[in-house]
Amino acid sequence: MKFAPGSSACKFNDRSCRTIAGRARRTYSRDMTVAPVPTAPLRPVPRHLLAIEAMPAAEITRFLNLAQRYVDQNRSPDKKRDLLHGKTLVNLFFENSTRTRTSFELAGKRLGADVINMAVAVSSIKKGETLIDTAMTLNAMHLDVLVVRHPESGAVKLLADKVNCVVINAGDGHHEHPTQALLDGLTIRLRRGHLDGLKVAICGDILHSRVARSNIHLLNAMGAHVRVVAPPTLLPADIARLGAEVHHRMESGLADVDIVMMLRLQTERMSGQYVPSIREYFHFFGLTREKLKAARPDALIMHPGPMNRGVEIDSEVADDIKRSVILDQVELGVAVRMACLDLLTRDTNSTTG
Ligand code: MLT
Repeated sequence: MKFAPGSSACKFNDRSCRTIAGRARRTYSRDMTVAPVPTAPLRPVPRHLLAIEAMPAAEITRFLNLAQRYVDQNRSPDKKRDLLHGKTLVNLFFENSTRTRTSFELAGKRLGADVINMAVAVSSIKKGETLIDTAMTLNAMHLDVLVVRHPESGAVKLLADKVNCVVINAGDGHHEHPTQALLDGLTIRLRRGHLDGLKVAICGDILHSRVARSNIHLLNAMGAHVRVVAPPTLLPADIARLGAEVHHRMESGLADVDIVMMLRLQTERMSGQYVPSIREYFHFFGLTREKLKAARPDALIMHPGPMNRGVEIDSEVADDIKRSVILDQVELGVAVRMACLDLLTRDTNSTTG
């Protein structure tokens, strides 16, 4: 079941369904006079990071600028701060993850938070508890930040509407992966000095990729020119609306680009056959030194990981230390997530409900 935001399955988004924390609840007695009931003190309204879509360039820049400061801190011997001392961060991952979950854990710990990784496989969710029950249970434990990854698009928003803490989307179905796009944006900005005017080719399984969607929104907002390169079977129907130039051949798609962003074939989200064979896919869409010749001579190679060598990318280009910034992306992921935790909890602290 898909929880597309605004769909009928998303009725829980309705404010009237929320826990009314901090406002005097009223009960109606028989004669319909209103009796105030004392409730808990006002709690701040949490700010979430659910998507890049509709995020203005100034806000993206604010995240990137702060992340850049955390890059320096992470490279110094003294990596720890106590900014989030006393705060609790829970990583709630309903899908496998190495990079994203570890970097959120490191980011939280480097800022002094208590970090808990909830193992979904052994939690009550496996015993039949619904997503909303889980949200309400965690909410009752007074968390400050909930980082969620879920296989269904829209599920993280559904959960965010039910809890009183900051919620960060660590990837929901094929919808969005906002912190990945922020770290990709920072990687490009640190190498090239800017994002505006750059030509970026996003290649591979666009249809199932939340990374592609978040990146298309971010790059467009920041003034870059986005191309997508994929066979027609791996492109979403609304690709033109997203604001990307479509190419079905690597040679034309990569012509003169500054950045080549490769994506994995996300077989776990596929129902059916989208490519004739892996061998044929690599032949036409796998990034090789030969295909890379179409791009600018200094074009950077990116990949969000995990990489499938010999499927979407050849080892020779993945490991090219002059062109590949794949490990920079991993490094900067920690700094970007520290900036997100810092800004979102800071904004929450200064907001009154
Ligand atoms: C994701 O979670 O979408 C990853 O970062 C990219 C992938 O799985 O291919």
